[in-house]
Amino acid sequence: MKYRELDTFPEGFLWGASTSAYQVEGAWDTDGKGPSVIDANGHTAPGISDFRVCSDHYHHVEEDVALFAQMGLKSYRFSIAWTRIIPDGDGLVNQAGVDFYHRLIDSLIAHGIEPIVTMYHFDLPAALDAKGGWENRGTVAAFERFARILFSEYGSKVTYWLTINEQNMMILVGEAIGTVKKGSPKSALYQANHHMMLAQAKAILACHEMLPSAKIGPAPNIALTYPETCDPEDVLAADDFNSIRNWFYLDASVRGMYNSVAWRYLREIGAAPNVEAGDMDVLKSAKPDFIAFNYYASMTVSKPAPEGAATTDSSDQQLVAGEENVFLGVKNPHLPSTDFGWEMDPIGFRNTFRALWDRYHLPLLVTENGLGAFDKLEDGAVHDQYRINYLRDHIKQIQLAITDGVEVLGYNPWSAIDLVSTHQGVAKRYGFIFVNRGEEDMLDLARYPKDSFYWYKKVISSNGDDLN
Ligand code: BG6
Repeated sequence: MKYRELDTFPEGFLWGASTSAYQVEGAWDTDGKGPSVIDANGHTAPGISDFRVCSDHYHHVEEDVALFAQMGLKSYRFSIAWTRIIPDGDGLVNQAGVDFYHRLIDSLIAHGIEPIVTMYHFDLPAALDAKGGWENRGTVAAFERFARILFSEYGSKVTYWLTINEQNMMILVGEAIGTVKKGSPKSALYQANHHMMLAQAKAILACHEMLPSAKIGPAPNIALTYPETCDPEDVLAADDFNSIRNWFYLDASVRGMYNSVAWRYLREIGAAPNVEAGDMDVLKSAKPDFIAFNYYASMTVSKPAPEGAATTDSSDQQLVAGEENVFLGVKNPHLPSTDFGWEMDPIGFRNTFRALWDRYHLPLLVTENGLGAFDKLEDGAVHDQYRINYLRDHIKQIQLAITDGVEVLGYNPWSAIDLVSTHQGVAKRYGFIFVNRGEEDMLDLARYPKDSFYWYKKVISSNGDDLN
């Protein structure tokens, strides 16, 4: 539908930006921090940066927050490294780690920036992993304890809480991200998924009990799946993939039930988890206040390849290959791609907003969206017009979604500052601020605002009116 006039962005809209602890902080073993699965897996290919130094945000925190304030950010979405707070995941609390996030949060508040805290972004403590990780039901209690510590430490300063970043991607493409061991069987992954669902529900319940005026929600990666054609079999395959990739996670988080199509799929592949008595009551009783979601681009699938034809596993969150008897990932011929082969679909953003709103009727908070590109520093500047175009096109679609009647709380693109990508090093940059380092050579780690920084500043100060 085309409108003659668009609604404006609401007052108090959270124009922000995002990062995660393990990708930006560095200082991987500083001040008592324990190793996470990411540190333990090493998770790098030759010539690709590891996560030991990242953007060294840990040692540049005041400078970085001052830059975020200069850009005019109203919110900053970051994650807390579980291993800074509790180095082995369930033992003693590390005061230096607790103090670091107090410093960060205090500095944000002093600059008028709303902190949005992700409690867990891919970096499970390695010591818990050694005890079975999320496959071990004991990790649920460890997470609830961690959550309660965060609420009592930071609850008086933080209103917006996100439980688990991209739980669906950890299950679907965890090998690419480095959160699960190579060759983990699907039955183990979906058992881990059930435990994460319980852990999230317990954190939501604890948040509402301890902090009655705080707001908490899940933060999956949600991208609507299109059928390749109007062949009913393609439409069915798209519906199946939407259930498996998107609704399975949100139906459990919001409605406290497992999506029936996805559940049948799990039984079909022998991966339905063991659900103990009372588990579904816990899921049902925990009610999120909003849905946070990360969106990069839509997906397109067709009916599954004929039996025996090769299908491979997905190589990352946006490059979906297919699954025997279920669907086949295909390229959408209507969409351009980034330097890294990810399709770009701003209209798919609006479609995704509408689908989420129709299904759940909860306010929506965008916690990631952005363009990974090979940026070049030239005479102290980075001319990233391609990123401005990407962000502008997506912001226009948010305004259309708002006009459609969707309640949108804010937009926090990825990333506030350059950081290390999940598996493609620092060459794949997303930030508004350039960090001067290479894959293995740390250079001087100096910060340079990119052209997109100045452009976004105008967008924010005009509350989305000035997109040019
Ligand atoms: C999201 C993650 O999946 O996408 C981030 O939450 C990640 O951690 C971002 O960095 C972009 O993906 P990538 O693989 O390009 O780093």
